[in-house]
Amino acid sequence: MAKTFYVTTPIYYVNDAPHIGHAYTTVAGDVLTRWHRLRGDDVFYLTGTDEHGQKILRTAEANQSDPGQWCDRLVESAWKPLWRELDIANDDFIRTTEPRHTERVQRFLQGLMDKGFIYEGKYEGLYCVGCEEFKLEGDLLEGNCKIHSKPVERLSETNYFFKLSAFVKPLLEHYRKNPEACSPDSARNEVISFLEGGVQDLSISRSTFSWGIPVPWDKSQVVYVWFDALLNYATAVGLGEPSDSPLGKMFAKTWPADVHLVGRDILRFHAVIWPAMLMAAGLEVPKKVFAHGWLLVGGEKMSKSKLTGIAPSQITSHFGLDAFRYYFLRAIPFGSDGSFSWEDMSARYTSELANDFGNLASRAAAMIEKYCDGKIPEVDRDESLATSLAETVKIADAAFGRLDFQSGILAVMEFCKRINGYLTEREPWAIAKDANRIGEVAKILYNTAESLRALAILLYPVMPGSCEKLWISIGGRELGELSSQRLGNVALWGQLKPGSIVTKGEALFPRLEEK
Ligand code: ME8
Ligand code: MG
Repeated sequence: MAKTFYVTTPIYYVNDAPHIGHAYTTVAGDVLTRWHRLRGDDVFYLTGTDEHGQKILRTAEANQSDPGQWCDRLVESAWKPLWRELDIANDDFIRTTEPRHTERVQRFLQGLMDKGFIYEGKYEGLYCVGCEEFKLEGDLLEGNCKIHSKPVERLSETNYFFKLSAFVKPLLEHYRKNPEACSPDSARNEVISFLEGGVQDLSISRSTFSWGIPVPWDKSQVVYVWFDALLNYATAVGLGEPSDSPLGKMFAKTWPADVHLVGRDILRFHAVIWPAMLMAAGLEVPKKVFAHGWLLVGGEKMSKSKLTGIAPSQITSHFGLDAFRYYFLRAIPFGSDGSFSWEDMSARYTSELANDFGNLASRAAAMIEKYCDGKIPEVDRDESLATSLAETVKIADAAFGRLDFQSGILAVMEFCKRINGYLTEREPWAIAKDANRIGEVAKILYNTAESLRALAILLYPVMPGSCEKLWISIGGRELGELSSQRLGNVALWGQLKPGSIVTKGEALFPRLEEK
């Protein structure tokens, strides 16, 4: 049984509507998902929402709302619609308030209790509700949480503890043996030095409010929101269901997750607490946690709490959806922080998308209409283009495989530039003036169209809508659906069928001033 390639995003807090930081992670996961589908992998892509805990409770209360109703409204009016608008191909959407989640969390917790990994104790210390995280003095700046710039609160309560400290050694061992399990290198180094500094047991329940999952053996306590939330990755695919049930089989096929995508703000939860929970339960740990950087505003992390979020629609309404999907992965190395700049985005839109890519597509279609009767000409093979395409596929696949989206996209865009250079050099429009040389023109245009076929397939994971238009424009439908094309065949030259109808559709990336 082939294993499913399983990709996840964080489940986001529904204290407010999403901003481009959340869209950044979710688009990256979508591109990764679509790239693996292109490879022919069976992929499962999960996203969802984190709905319990004090942060949500207080937000709902501040808005005179019941927390459950608050979450329902935001999930349905803001989160789910955004993922549809951004063309996100997730297979499931999990909400931590769903019974399938809460029941499996309770069973998991009971299992750890039965195994002796949980004990009762007294927690005394600091807590940031914004992070929903216990803090040490060293995590603070003048008494404030460094991430939320707000004062932390002092907690003192009796609750249940998870023996996290028992997993320091196994975790260090795990990252030594499997360095790729925490990426990029900077993230792994951070996790290793955190572990080496020593880790205390973790309080995993709270008794002073009730918006959470009840602890199964003590209903006066609710499960700590992070312990609840991390489990979503496993509950969504059937954690703890009987192995002969459909869900149990799904779990066997899907677990462990191949990539948990997270922002670097929540790296430790994913690379320390989560694998320790799984180890305690005797389950496999995720193959990779990848921590990407932050989108910054004025040098600080863009955030819902600080109201510095830019809504994705502010960008898509001006540049279009595909340019949005393209821009952040193209401009910022995945793993580093980056700032959004309107100017940089305009410049790349014009030079890379409108000129290099969009223009190439429309020029090629216009020339095929003009010189080849609007039909794909006879098959021809330009050896150097074919070689360069095969190279491009190799480089791009390796890059997307290691989540280096920037290099992957760049490799494909370099090939696009190469085709522009090919046309400039061959000048089919000049040759066409000589009626005896029309055969040469046809050959050049066949090779150009073939290159566009490959570009449509290779850029489809990043810009599905525009590539679909291009596919139709060059008669790609004769080869089947764009989504069913496979990476292993992309570089086979000579697939477009002579005689297929080519139509010059609307511009893929209209000039910005025309909008
Ligand atoms: O942390 N730049 O939810 P959250 C880049 N519920 N990415 C950003 C970003 C920014 N400025 N702002 C947010 C939580 N993100 C928990 C997660 S998972 C079991 C529970 C993205 O709503 C990034 O992926 O605060 C970050 O890690 C995540 O949103 C945090 O979302
Ligand atoms: Mg946050």
